[in-house]
Amino acid sequence: MAYIEMKHSYKRYQTGETEIIANNDINFEIEKGELVIILGSSGAGKSTVLNILGGMDTNDEGEVIIDGVNIADYNAKQLTKYRREDVGFVFQFYNLVSNLTAKENVELASEIVADALDPVETLQSVGLGKRLNNFPAQLSGGEQQRVAIARAVAKNPKILLCDEPTGALDYNTGKQVLQILQDMSRKQGATVIIVTHNGALAPIADRVIRMHDARVKSMDINEQPQDIAALEY
Ligand SMILES: Nc1ncnc2c1ncn2[C@@H]1O[C@H](COP(=O)(O)OP(=O)(O)O)[C@@H](O)[C@H]1O
Ligand SMILES: [Mg+2]
Repeated sequence: MAYIEMKHSYKRYQTGETEIIANNDINFEIEKGELVIILGSSGAGKSTVLNILGGMDTNDEGEVIIDGVNIADYNAKQLTKYRREDVGFVFQFYNLVSNLTAKENVELASEIVADALDPVETLQSVGLGKRLNNFPAQLSGGEQQRVAIARAVAKNPKILLCDEPTGALDYNTGKQVLQILQDMSRKQGATVIIVTHNGALAPIADRVIRMHDARVKSMDINEQPQDIAALEY
């Protein structure tokens, strides 16, 4: 059994008379420690998949296996515990607490789990050792996103889920953030899943899951993922 498996997963939305199928029989597997890209255009159902994997949303049908457990069977209380202890999230617009420093933002996450990483060391690992006491407004977009990554990583989560993490960043800053995420997988053994609409990012991943119109269209393994430094997009 793979580390993560989605099996025949469906998510439907009812708006008045019409039913929108956001995820239509989604199937894929992911191995521990992989860097995965879920690729697809806007509306393809990518965020829905990510939110279900992270216990932020629930599916209507199908299995969501994480490290041997089907979280689709979890009740609300179990899902809260799962989100808190096992998942790190990184969003397009960082979602930092504006009146807390970089260090305090990371502590907010590390304080809620038992086996957290050291907040200062985690910030140092993303190159922010000199910015510990800065507030988000004093940091660039790329630096804020690195704080958000540190906040997610400090929980030492089973999976790191990133929804369009470079969507608000310029080209070079985006590459720095991708490098950090690739290093998390390669050097720390973290399982990192990145959702993006940018097909040019696909070569950096160990596994690429392509989505279109609520379905998985293909799943490919890159035997030799490209280094970010060599990436042109
Ligand atoms: N809360 C919701 N209510 C109704 N429709 C939704 C809701 N969330 C997502 N959808 C629809 O589900 C589809 C997939 O959305 P989403 O997973 O956000 O796609 P992506 O992240 O690939 O852009 C879209 O058609 C979207 O409009
Ligand atoms: Mg989305």
